[in-house]
Amino acid sequence: MDLSILKKMFNFRKKNWYVPKGQEPTALDLKILAHQNRGDLCPPRRLVLNQEQIEGIRRSAVINTGVLDAVAEKICAGMSTAEIDKIVYDYTIAHGAIPADLGYEGYPKSVCTSIDDVVCHGIPSEDEILEEGDIVNVDVSTIKDGYFSDASRMFIIGKTTPQKERLVRVTKECLEIGAAAAKPWGHIGDVGKAIAQHAHKNGYSVVREFCGHGVGLVFHDEPEVDHYDTHADGMLLVPGMVFTIEPMINMGKRHVFIDSDDNWTVCTEDGLPSAQWEHTFLVTEDGLEILTQ
Ligand code: MF3
Ligand code: CO
Repeated sequence: MDLSILKKMFNFRKKNWYVPKGQEPTALDLKILAHQNRGDLCPPRRLVLNQEQIEGIRRSAVINTGVLDAVAEKICAGMSTAEIDKIVYDYTIAHGAIPADLGYEGYPKSVCTSIDDVVCHGIPSEDEILEEGDIVNVDVSTIKDGYFSDASRMFIIGKTTPQKERLVRVTKECLEIGAAAAKPWGHIGDVGKAIAQHAHKNGYSVVREFCGHGVGLVFHDEPEVDHYDTHADGMLLVPGMVFTIEPMINMGKRHVFIDSDDNWTVCTEDGLPSAQWEHTFLVTEDGLEILTQ
């Protein structure tokens, strides 16, 4: 039997959406319940945010974008990744916010800096100096008044090879194409299908071990946003949901490993470069709105 049909049967039994006791169902409740009865995996109620919550995430996202802009202004060859960490920490604190990475699951710094074959979760260090031709992902997450936002960009240090430049560009396209595939009342699985298609068409592979995620009231929540084709619909997309899309695209094979020295740094197994771009998105009536623009 087709795996997607099997998964749908399981989802059919997983009834996330309900009308709170003593409340009349709203038009939105009825619409979601109709999907649920057809076998869609619906979001739990906590994932459909109200205006106040969305405004809180917007304010967090404005600071998060400010951090990345501050990094963009200063980043250059000869700088250590510890200096990037300091820019992130200082800007965030000066704006009354907290770097979400700092102390998260024991993570020691305020930002992740991932160079070339480092896929994600690179730890900034005094000893790591940016060099001409490096491609660096800077992944910033911010907590403002309890609201979380999350985004990352690639930076090319000086001039790099056409191959690395193309990887950075195509990875950005993967994020854009994935976001364009997500529609209200569609499914999160549409995102990964679109991303994988674009990556493979360009001769690249997609990392499977890390995914995008619901974000806003906490750092990481449902839905799981896979960047490859899982052959499942995934969660129904309802206006008011907020999540990240953050494809990690490898120039070579998709396989990765975690550095056993620090238990954080994720590297490509074949040593070839990897790139990543990330935004936090809000599902609206029309499609996805970028909150971390
Ligand atoms: N910013 C990462 C994400 O996109 C999470 C980093 S967690 C850390 O979800 F602990 F490594 F900082
Ligand atoms: Co993220």
